[in-house]
Amino acid sequence: MSATRREFLRQAAATGAGALVTGTIPLSSIAGAADGPVPPVVVSSANGMSAVTRAMEMITTGSDALDAVIAGVNLVEDDPNDMSVGYGGLPNEEGVVELDAAVMHGPTHQAGAVASLRNIKNPSQVARVVMDRSDHVLLVGEGALRFARAHGFKEQDLLTDKAREAWLYWKEHLSNTDDWLPPHGPDDKDIGALLPEPLRNEFGAFFRHSGTIHCSALDLKGNLSCVTTTSGLAFKMPGRVGDSPIIGAGLYCDNAIGTAGSTGRGEANLINCSSRMVVEYMHAGKTPEEACLEVVKQIVEHNRMKRLRDAQGRPTFEVSFYAINARGAHGGARIYSGGKMAVHDGTAARLEPIAYLYKKDNG
Ligand code: GLY
Repeated sequence: MSATRREFLRQAAATGAGALVTGTIPLSSIAGAADGPVPPVVVSSANGMSAVTRAMEMITTGSDALDAVIAGVNLVEDDPNDMSVGYGGLPNEEGVVELDAAVMHGPTHQAGAVASLRNIKNPSQVARVVMDRSDHVLLVGEGALRFARAHGFKEQDLLTDKAREAWLYWKEHLSNTDDWLPPHGPDDKDIGALLPEPLRNEFGAFFRHSGTIHCSALDLKGNLSCVTTTSGLAFKMPGRVGDSPIIGAGLYCDNAIGTAGSTGRGEANLINCSSRMVVEYMHAGKTPEEACLEVVKQIVEHNRMKRLRDAQGRPTFEVSFYAINARGAHGGARIYSGGKMAVHDGTAARLEPIAYLYKKDNG
């Protein structure tokens, strides 16, 4: 929606005429922050403190929300220490890094995405070019790489030594009867137990890690946009694509209602169209936090596979949501307690706790 149309909606809502405007959403029906000028806000997953800071710097100097969130997540894609995104991301089961990303621009309601992209460290930038310079929304694999090359993106090896060692650790500890031997010797059946403590501590957590960064923003013109970028599920099957590059699953934005995105088990978002649902719940009048929590409940309700349920029937995985509505209210939720989101409201970047469905036994 253009700034002019948004202004019209604000005026219409203020005069009580908003509900009569066919095909539009009266701003008055969106729950949350106060009436009046909408202050800018940026939210992201907890690994995005640098991203929200960068995005807000750009927004306060007049940038469009989409330019700002992409520049924000580029910092995390470039960071070799974030092993869930871009350069340094954990590879697939063959040791190759495959990246997924998508962007959605509120004012034009356009989107772009890439999936299973190799060798390019900023898939969010390629997704932006898919949106701007093609008549498509999603390019995958070799086609996405060719498109990136055509637009001047430089190829590089994305596998850092740390990510390679994590992959090797995973591979060597899958079985004690295959041909991949951990460093402590072929006769040891107690796989992993004799690994040096620092390696166990460092890599134990990476067995099926599915990190990601989502970033959403509301800019000074009242426009919304979002991006999600990831290396996906650690040690995935080559070609596996999660929710991050799928519009409506890993992110969604409607300039008149709100923007939302997710991190965590992508398969759960693919079968629940989760981010679109968060936006729809905001459309129905729920606050961003309530909307996120509704979708968490749906995911839990729909999680019927025994292998993904614990003894109490609860999910054995995590999914988190982050959202902003068109009035500038923000919120998030996930399945288990202990989650946080990065928020910048123009004053400072901070980590805020998000709502949850179940309290963790130790959380
Ligand atoms: N949410 C990231 C993924 O599942 O790939």
